[in-house]
Amino acid sequence: MPAHDSRLWTIDTPNTSYVVAVDEHDRLRGLHWGPRLSPEQALALLDLPDSPFRPVVGREPRFDLGAGSAFQYGHNGLQVRFSDGTRDLELVFAEAVEEDGDLTFVFTDRHYPLEVRTRYRSHPGSDVIERTLALRNTGTEPIEVVRADSATWVVPGLDAPRLSQLHGEWGAETQLTRTTIPYGETVIGSRRGITSHQANPWVAIDDGEATETSGPVWSTALAWSGTWRITVEKGPTGSVVVSAGFGHDPIAIRLGGGETLETPIAAGLHTAGGFAAAASAWHDYALAHVLPHPDEVRPVLYNSWEATEFDFTAEDQMRLADRAAAMGCELFVMDDGWFGARVNDRAGLGDWTPNPDRFPDGLGPLIKHVHGCGMRFGIWVEPEMVNPDSDLYRAHPDWVYHQPNRRRSEVRQQLVLNLARPDVAEFIHARLDELLSQNEIDFVKWDMNRPFTEAGWPGDEDPDRLWFDHTRNLYAILDRLRADHPTLRIESCSSGGGRVDFGILRRTDQVWTSDNTDAVDRIAIQDGFAQAYPARVMGAWVTDSPNPLTRREVPLDFRFHVAMAGVLAVGGDLRIWSDEDQARGAELVADYKRVRPAVQLGRRRPLRAGEVTGVQYDRGDQTVVLVWRKARSFAYPDPLLKLHGLDPDARYRDERTGRVHHGAILALHGLDLGLDPADYASAMIELTRLP
Ligand code: GLA
Repeated sequence: MPAHDSRLWTIDTPNTSYVVAVDEHDRLRGLHWGPRLSPEQALALLDLPDSPFRPVVGREPRFDLGAGSAFQYGHNGLQVRFSDGTRDLELVFAEAVEEDGDLTFVFTDRHYPLEVRTRYRSHPGSDVIERTLALRNTGTEPIEVVRADSATWVVPGLDAPRLSQLHGEWGAETQLTRTTIPYGETVIGSRRGITSHQANPWVAIDDGEATETSGPVWSTALAWSGTWRITVEKGPTGSVVVSAGFGHDPIAIRLGGGETLETPIAAGLHTAGGFAAAASAWHDYALAHVLPHPDEVRPVLYNSWEATEFDFTAEDQMRLADRAAAMGCELFVMDDGWFGARVNDRAGLGDWTPNPDRFPDGLGPLIKHVHGCGMRFGIWVEPEMVNPDSDLYRAHPDWVYHQPNRRRSEVRQQLVLNLARPDVAEFIHARLDELLSQNEIDFVKWDMNRPFTEAGWPGDEDPDRLWFDHTRNLYAILDRLRADHPTLRIESCSSGGGRVDFGILRRTDQVWTSDNTDAVDRIAIQDGFAQAYPARVMGAWVTDSPNPLTRREVPLDFRFHVAMAGVLAVGGDLRIWSDEDQARGAELVADYKRVRPAVQLGRRRPLRAGEVTGVQYDRGDQTVVLVWRKARSFAYPDPLLKLHGLDPDARYRDERTGRVHHGAILALHGLDLGLDPADYASAMIELTRLP
């Protein structure tokens, strides 16, 4: 046995091992992240050429804790500046503490009063490893934290490493792309104050050859809803490190004497079996260890936004509620336009009392009506915002982010409240608590419609902290409201999918995936979304045709079948839907309710056959297949659709036709979908495994 075996640790999950060692310079080194190793096999890593206890010859070591030290020229996930201007860290290993399944490495700076703790946590039954960093200033002088990434993951050497990422913009979120990783640093992130539409804090690395169903994949996700960056660095020999953390250049955190900085969780996951297996492991993690009410299935909701926008009365909402209830919806959500002077987007944000013309008797009558229809009642709020034309802004013009001598840029005629200020956060909490206490509100759609600009805090000695404290205070308000109103459920929205991440999902129940409700565009958005997040949180509305955003005309069944792959909702103007569409809608809602546990809580597998794409959800004996085909080429018949993950020896009954299929035939040859040959064909197929 090598003499250094006491400096090697393994974090084991059901199928993987993550092996780290503290080298002779007290640096934390990542040695293995992949399939499970026995303790003896892990020790053998110390005999390899890049063992932390051999002299480094010709190549840079890969640090798990990317902390500044001499000769590290690559990515550096932990950077601080001491009050005398010294920048380098020289960490001395103090101890490794194993407690309640956590493994924490404690380091202190050789000279300066800084303690660094890096903590790993795994959960039974999951291959996800969570990592956080805690920095404690044990002295009195402030320390500037330039960068504190939650994790720097060392991916084993791969021939042609490839990066999968989710990029986009408003109305086109979570577009999945896979590209060969260039040498050097590739950085994705957000400087907007929110997670962002432009990039989602999730990436996956593979060897360039993984498919949906084969190959190893390494992925990471950051549980944070403010600004962030993920750096993927390919070194000269092809090795890859992925570093994920909150904050962005050039903001820094000031850590006062005695203070501790805790970073958000960066979660890492190694899986075998291709991209679908990686996605499904993320879904299991979200369901078991992230979401607050993981066993609940989400109700079919109706949302009034696209139907009425700002133009409605209480009676209009009641009429929509009647129609929604008749269709089988279970939760009615009144969107924007119910409060203050908010009859258009120019006024009222910040004044969270019912508009007196629209609701002369308050919200009570509408809520009673909705509850009387057998539905729960939900309401839209955007608490982090004000319109300059609002009572709140007139009373507190200094409560928004701003810089002296700079204009206050408006987006959608609104400014961002300085939620980092304790008095503002307290005020917002109090207003919402009052709203929830005085009205029987079951659900809140919490929106956040514009990014930060001129993000200043005049008079504060450390204004950069607003980038962190805004998100922390947001989390604290959500946590407090949740604790005080235990039956309340919350949807995270940010102009659609601008705030989707494992941080917000820890304290919300679902998210609004995108303002783009066009079923065709949604297929790509939902596919990207599903790389990391489960169907159980993916809000999907069926809206009118032609679609208000894209003007595309898509048949009702197709719109429903695409939305049924997530948390089905209806968002069209039911006052103008034909009787036929309303009746068909009710049938499809009923179909969805039958298969909902499998969709929301089951295992997802993407499907493809020719022009047909779709998704399969499995749970227990139930297999649900949702397929859609935009158009055929050259009148070719649709190929049979091969299903995945079925028991080849079992038989499955197609509940549509009563026909019984062999699992082996469904997997090897496929299912005859019998889709309508015309454009925009779609179907839901429900298979039951026979005993
Ligand atoms: C955002 C949301 C929409 C809707 C509007 C209301 O754009 O994403 O769903 O709530 O705000 O103003």
